[in-house]
Amino acid sequence: MSGVLVTGGTGQTGRTLVQVLRNDGVQARVASRNPAAAGPDAIRFDWNDPTTYGPALDGMDRVFLLPPVDSVDPLPLVEPFLHQAQRAGIRRLVMLGSAIVLPNAPSAVEMAAQVRAQPRGVVLRASGFMQNFLRPHPLAEHIHRLGEIRTAAGDGKLGWVDARDIAASAAVLLADLDMDARSDYLITGPHGMSYPQAAQIITAQTGRQVRVERITEEEQAAAYRASGMPAQFADSLAAVERAIKTGREDQVSTAVLDLTGHPPRTFTEFVSDHADEWTQ
Ligand SMILES: NC(=O)c1ccc[n+]([C@@H]2O[C@H](COP(=O)([O-])OP(=O)(O)OC[C@H]3O[C@@H](n4cnc5c(N)ncnc54)[C@H](OP(=O)(O)O)[C@@H]3O)[C@@H](O)[C@H]2O)c1
Repeated sequence: MSGVLVTGGTGQTGRTLVQVLRNDGVQARVASRNPAAAGPDAIRFDWNDPTTYGPALDGMDRVFLLPPVDSVDPLPLVEPFLHQAQRAGIRRLVMLGSAIVLPNAPSAVEMAAQVRAQPRGVVLRASGFMQNFLRPHPLAEHIHRLGEIRTAAGDGKLGWVDARDIAASAAVLLADLDMDARSDYLITGPHGMSYPQAAQIITAQTGRQVRVERITEEEQAAAYRASGMPAQFADSLAAVERAIKTGREDQVSTAVLDLTGHPPRTFTEFVSDHADEWTQ
């Protein structure tokens, strides 16, 4: 048997990936803590329960790896999974990582190195997701309730990318085992965009007035914590805003175009596809 185990298969990136793979005739098994709600060909998988790793991998020859979310130290859970994947004979492993290395989270770098060392291991270093502007992300909740983006990132730009383009890029790598892939791709949208520019685009596209309130890193961390994020992760994520403000994270690549043959979606296209989010 062969097919792709899609961890995070019920999430924003994973569920699009599952659709794309199935449309291409590739078997995709959805890994979820709640497989009964995850549609056909789903299996129970919980990072916090290593006994679920083996059955999820059984019979699969490729893996899309979404590391434990909201964690500053994912390696202790991912490392045993990688060992099991190697024993199971996995022939391609694609991990969704991040373009931004979270401060105070050193194991993410080591985890990416271990993934690249797997047979045909690939790390996708994704920029900020445009889907952060959709609820239930705290950024989007705030826009919805108050018409306001609260940020410590100032006018700093990020190469925002649509999760659908990340999924399409991963699908190419997972569908074609023979392709001459690199072990690392920076996955971004077509150009850098600041929060004030995002607010302008939403207003221009939908008529919803969105303003930007500039806050401190401490206020940003408190807001993330209040939204339910673990405190250490919230602090780390808020510190990222400082890096964005300096312009250090303003980078774009051609990886989506190179891998899929299609240019990545612009933020204007994204807003137009989800206009209901701001008009209701
Ligand atoms: N948002 C950004 O700007 C950004 C930028 C770069 C990288 N990233 C990375 O992207 C990832 C999030 O991707 P996404 O937005 O596609 O996912 P998502 O929509 O946040 O969904 C999270 C997925 O993780 C699964 N999950 C949660 N806890 C789990 C656990 N204990 N065991 C197994 N599975 C678990 C959920 O499945 P069930 O609930 O069905 O179990 C769900 O499928 C994060 O790792 C983040 O670091 C995000």
